[in-house]
Amino acid sequence: MIEKIQQLLSEVEAQSVTNADAAEAFRIHYLGRKGVLKDLTEEFKAVPNEMKREVGVLLNTLKNEIQQKIEGAKGDDQAVATSSGADLTRPAGDLPLGSRHPISIVRREILDIFSRIGFTVCEGPEVEDDWHVFSGLNFPPEHPARDMQDTFFVEGEDRLLRTHTSSVQVREMERRQPPIRIVMPGRVFRNEAVSSRSHCAFHQIEGLYIDKDVSFADLKQTLLYFAKEFFGKAEIRLRPSYFPFTEPSAEMDVYWGLETEVDHRITKGTGWLEVLGCGMVDPAVLEASGIDSKVYSGFAFGMGIERIAMQRYQIGDLRMFFENDLRFLKQFSSVS
Ligand code: DAH
Repeated sequence: MIEKIQQLLSEVEAQSVTNADAAEAFRIHYLGRKGVLKDLTEEFKAVPNEMKREVGVLLNTLKNEIQQKIEGAKGDDQAVATSSGADLTRPAGDLPLGSRHPISIVRREILDIFSRIGFTVCEGPEVEDDWHVFSGLNFPPEHPARDMQDTFFVEGEDRLLRTHTSSVQVREMERRQPPIRIVMPGRVFRNEAVSSRSHCAFHQIEGLYIDKDVSFADLKQTLLYFAKEFFGKAEIRLRPSYFPFTEPSAEMDVYWGLETEVDHRITKGTGWLEVLGCGMVDPAVLEASGIDSKVYSGFAFGMGIERIAMQRYQIGDLRMFFENDLRFLKQFSSVS
C-alpha cells in the first residue's frame, strides 16, 4: 500500500491543473465519492495496526497534495481573470466632468486678454459705502447722476450694495500710488425689474490705468487690442457719453457686420455692437483718492459680462445665466 500511495503522490505532483474545469475533474477523480481516495480509505482499514501510523501519515500527505493542487488552480484562475479576462488597455469609462459657467468662461477670457498687456486683477467688497460707489467717483450728493443706477441700500448707516465695479478703482487708488494697471471683476447689484435684458445682480469688469502721460490715444489702443483679441474684429468707434468720474467719457462700439439676420438682430440693425463705457479719469477723482492729478493721468473702462456673453453665445434671455438649468449649462462643457 505504501508503494501505491507513493506512486499516486508522484502522479499528482506531475499533473498540472490550470483552470476551474480541470480542477473540478481532478477533484472528482481523487476526492469524489467513487474516487481514488475513497478506495484507499477502504484499503487502509485492512492495514495491520503496526503499519497504520506510517501509512496514515503518507495518506494525509497525498490528501494535502491533492487539496493544494485544487486550491492552486483556483488561484491560477483568478490570476488569469485579471491578466487576460480584463483588458487592461481598454480606455476607462467616462467620468462625468462638470463645466464652467458661461459667465466664468467669458470673465476668464477677458481677464486673460488684459493680463497679457500687464494688467493685474484686483477685487473689492460687494457691500460698500457711499464714498466708494458714488462720492469718491465724483457723484455729488443729490446729483441726478446717482439715479442712473438704482441702488439697494442695506440697513444700518452708510451701507449699500455696489452698483458698479468702479468702486474698486477708488479702493485701489486710495491704497497705492501709480503706476496702477488693473482689471477688477465682480458682481454688482441694481434695483431693477428682472427681465430678459436686465437683472438685479450681474457681473462687470472694470479697468484702470494710471501713470505719467497716459493719454486718450492709449485708451483707444488698449480697447482696440481688446476688441481684436476678444471679438476678432479690428474696427471700433468711440461715441461721446457721460460718466461723472471720467472726462471726456465715451462708449465703445465694435463693428460687427450686417450680413446675416443674426447680425441685424444683435446690432439692432446698425452693424455696431455696444461693448463698454470708458474715459479719461476725471482729475477730481484722482485728487479725491490722493493721487496728484498734475503728475498723473489715466483712463478707465467698464463692461458688463452678461451682455458680452449673450452676444458671444447668442443667448436671448439674460435670466438663463442665473437659473442654473443643467440642460443650459451643459452646452458649455466643451469650452475651456
Ligand atoms: N460704471 C459704469 C456703469 O456701471 C461703467 C463705466 C463707464 C466704467 C465708464 C468706467 C468708465 O470705468 O470709465 O455703467
